[in-house]
Amino acid sequence: MSVLVAITGRDNTKLIARLTELLPNETIEGWPSCKNPSDVEFVLAWNAPNDLWQQLPNLRAVSSFGAGVDSINLSLLHEHVDVVRIVDKQLADDMAEYVLTHVLAQKLRLQEYFVKQSQGNWKPKRGYKYKHVGILGFGELAKACADKLLINGFTLSAWSKTAKESQHVKLYTGTRLDEMLPQIDFLVCLLPLTDETKGIINAQLLAKLPKHACVINVARGQHIIESDLLSALDSGNLRSATLDVFTEEPLPSSHPFWQHNKVTITPHCAAISDLNSVAVQIAENVDRLNRGLELNNRVNRTKGY
Ligand code: NAP
Ligand code: GLV
Repeated sequence: MSVLVAITGRDNTKLIARLTELLPNETIEGWPSCKNPSDVEFVLAWNAPNDLWQQLPNLRAVSSFGAGVDSINLSLLHEHVDVVRIVDKQLADDMAEYVLTHVLAQKLRLQEYFVKQSQGNWKPKRGYKYKHVGILGFGELAKACADKLLINGFTLSAWSKTAKESQHVKLYTGTRLDEMLPQIDFLVCLLPLTDETKGIINAQLLAKLPKHACVINVARGQHIIESDLLSALDSGNLRSATLDVFTEEPLPSSHPFWQHNKVTITPHCAAISDLNSVAVQIAENVDRLNRGLELNNRVNRTKGY
């Protein structure tokens, strides 16, 4: 079999070398150099070109390079193709650390002090007392964030598609999201991007949050209607936002978020896939594919995550 690495926008030399080390009996190639497309049975993908899939007649499995699978157009894959993703403790730990850091930063007014620093303005204030964090999603990453926030004294609520149980996190599903929103001080988005979740953070949802609330988006830019977020910030109906992901990445230099004094921007770095963890998980799944075993971390193609 041949394994194709089709990750655009980064240098894959080290990843291909590591996969070659872990899978000495397979051919590992980096798109677009693919000697024999009919040998390709497994693709590791991130923003792969849409016309790639039709060129691979014997494709059996596609893995995302990350936790999200929205960079793969699932509708272009043959029904029998398995789709898998990365589930990794390091990725979850990194996300939890990022979310805790930015919740604390908003609680302790760091964004306000950065603005004051630029004005040479010395004006100490107590940090906010707010402690209730609500998470959209209660999957691998959200659970790690909830655990980290709980041990740091925060109160946690979360919203998921299906009902779940937790001793320490108050859980909501479906339209009960409307009950959660007015109670929380920080809204963290950790949903997958699907037809159902696209644009979920819009004017209607934002209007249900308290005015002192902060939004932290670490999922995908398309979860937010950016113009609605800007209106909520400008009208004083939302205190601040921390954004790691954007509708267009890199964020265009003319985008109003760059200069907005209530917005903290990071460059899609909350939890970056670790090269070695990815290579090990791909090698294991290639081995499982060869042995006819069910692949690890399969995505439900109907649900889209
Ligand atoms: P996951 O384990 O698949 O969890 C997704 C959660 O969202 C689940 O709890 C699911 O509910 C819930 N959900 C899905 N659709 C929903 C809906 N319509 N209504 C309510 N809840 C819904 O995903 P994950 O591994 O935690 O990752 C989440 C996302 O984080 C990824 O898809 C990716 O976009 C993003 N991410 C960002 C970065 C970064 O650096 N910024 C890094 C990694 C990942 P059920 O449990 O009921 O199915
Ligand atoms: C990163 O955004 C990921 O989905 O892993």
